[in-house]
Amino acid sequence: MNVLVAGGAGFIGSAYVRHRLAAHPDATVRVLDKLTYAGRVENLRGLDPERVELVEGDIADTEVVKPALEGCEAIVNFAAETHVDRSITSPGEFIQTDVYGTFVLLEAARDAGIRHLQVSTDEVYGSIVDGSFTETSPLDPSSPYSASKAGGDLMVGAYRNTHDVDALIVRASNNYGPRQYPEKLIPLCILNALAGDPLPVYGDGMQVRNWLWVDDSASAIDTVLEFGRAGEVYNVGGPDELPNIEVVRRVLELTGRDESLIEHVTDRLGHDRRYSLASAKTEALGWRADVRFDDGIERTVEWYRENEWWWKPIRSGEYRAYYERQYGSALG
Ligand code: NAD
Ligand code: DAU
Repeated sequence: MNVLVAGGAGFIGSAYVRHRLAAHPDATVRVLDKLTYAGRVENLRGLDPERVELVEGDIADTEVVKPALEGCEAIVNFAAETHVDRSITSPGEFIQTDVYGTFVLLEAARDAGIRHLQVSTDEVYGSIVDGSFTETSPLDPSSPYSASKAGGDLMVGAYRNTHDVDALIVRASNNYGPRQYPEKLIPLCILNALAGDPLPVYGDGMQVRNWLWVDDSASAIDTVLEFGRAGEVYNVGGPDELPNIEVVRRVLELTGRDESLIEHVTDRLGHDRRYSLASAKTEALGWRADVRFDDGIERTVEWYRENEWWWKPIRSGEYRAYYERQYGSALG
């Protein structure tokens, strides 16, 4: 089948496109992407142009979405503003894309009578002290980002209930791996460590995240697209939970730097302390995470070492201005 992958030029979306093409030899993909600062044509480099088409456009624009959907049999929606820190300073874009954009795609899925798979996040559940969130845990988002994602999820439920749209949701934990924009903790720390720059750790660094290798995330999303039931939510958590400070230490080891580069900076506002997902429901569809953190983080550091062509232009562009605003005074 031909799938519309919204946000397919981003980090996880592009990994998903590669997975989809490899796992289904007859599959074709149309990527619809606004190419924001986080969306990059280079992320789709090397893929068969006979099987992948890129349409540049906004998911919140009906005039763009309708023609882009022609001939597609499903939507997988990755398109979103995704960085929590940016949502604290500029929440409007998050509401526009993550809520309103999702609504526009759902309307289009309804018109076309096709499946809509919404890619969502563990952050919609908020923070958990012990144990793990299941799909029936209540939504309790902390940031404008996670509240926008929760809004999108609720809209998916509404279109299922009201209009019988074949819609379903995947909620994934923190992804990591190649091609992640270096505003996120792991690539930011890898690039800073390679350059000998300080690594900013928010607060005490004891916040726990549930790390998921990006290709495992892609295979889970594809499993849910193929076998998931309409109206259901599927959690996809990684196999390892680590406090941020441990992640940062691992990056320092792998880049041959010492802990003097660690700089504790002012904590993120509303910072969730711990995420943890129970993934049994997705595993019951036949999915398993293959890559453990120790292996995945080594591969990730290696990828950034070997692919300076990918990140060098980022570090000198929009990212530089963002970095100054976010860390300038704290890191000196
Ligand atoms: P990303 O920021 O790397 O990519 C987002 C992509 O969406 C970019 O290509 C961007 O250009 C595109 N986009 C943004 N606004 C758009 C719009 N209005 N119209 C069309 N395209 C638009 O994000 P990511 O980390 O790959 O995340 C992908 C999805 O997965 C998001 O929905 C995110 O909420 C979700 N998610 C991410 C993680 C994670 O750890 N990165 C974990 C769980 C869920
Ligand atoms: O949990 C899934 C979510 O993971 C996704 O929905 C989001 O789109 C994605 O951005 C990610 O959100 P986080 O806020 O968890 O990711 P981030 O890489 O920004 O931060 C990871 C942890 O590291 C978090 O506890 C904040 C901390 N951190 C982050 C940065 C950028 C630092 O300590 N220092 C930093 O400079």
